[in-house]
Amino acid sequence: MKVERYFQQQADSFDRLYETGGAWQHLLNRTFRKGLYERVRLALEDLGQLGPHTLLDVGCGSGRNEPLFVTAGATRVTGIDFSPRMLELARSFTKASGVDRQCEFIEGDFLGHAFPEKFDAVVALGVFDYFADPVKPLTRMRELARKRVIASFPQVSLVRAPLRKLRYALRNCPVYFYRQEALWEFAKQAGLKARIVPYASSGLLLIGEPA
Ligand SMILES: C[S@@+](CC[C@H](N)C(=O)[O-])C[C@H]1O[C@@H](n2cnc3c(N)ncnc32)[C@H](O)[C@@H]1O
Repeated sequence: MKVERYFQQQADSFDRLYETGGAWQHLLNRTFRKGLYERVRLALEDLGQLGPHTLLDVGCGSGRNEPLFVTAGATRVTGIDFSPRMLELARSFTKASGVDRQCEFIEGDFLGHAFPEKFDAVVALGVFDYFADPVKPLTRMRELARKRVIASFPQVSLVRAPLRKLRYALRNCPVYFYRQEALWEFAKQAGLKARIVPYASSGLLLIGEPA
């Protein structure tokens, strides 16, 4: 509930992190938000090898990655997010990007939603930051995935992680950080054969296949 409220309030400012309008803002975002671009770049590298595929985007947010998923071979992208404002932004962004016919959005909690189908790939970028227990959502992702599970995790760090935790605590939103060794264990418990790719000095991307 706290996470849901946080993203409903922060949807527009989160979406602006992707703005590439002015050269100055572009440079700032690319420098200080490198992880945002790196995690999707690495995910797309892998997804591109799947050929045509269906994709579930868990915590799709404002849909900024949806056109990239389509370009990488997704014939159908289903985004789920519990923030209505995020989904409003996602619908308008995918329409403006000309990929709205390939995308559909579900308003709801990923853990509580009953999906009637499986997907070739299930992706969660920037979402495990907010799960207190990562094994449950990872297991659910594996259950829903035919070929690939891809999820990003913020790493434990000396300065950056405590500062971020404090910033979020001031807005009453919990945030969690992970160690690479723990991720191996979570992947195993979730039934995934995984590899872990560190990126942008503070992120870990788990790329897994149902074991
Ligand atoms: C940091 S944003 C990332 C958005 C997008 N994946 C991206 O990379 O731009 C995290 C999103 O996950 C959503 N979210 C977090 N937990 C969720 C859950 N259990 N079910 C559905 N959405 C969730 C939030 O509402 C938010 O929009």
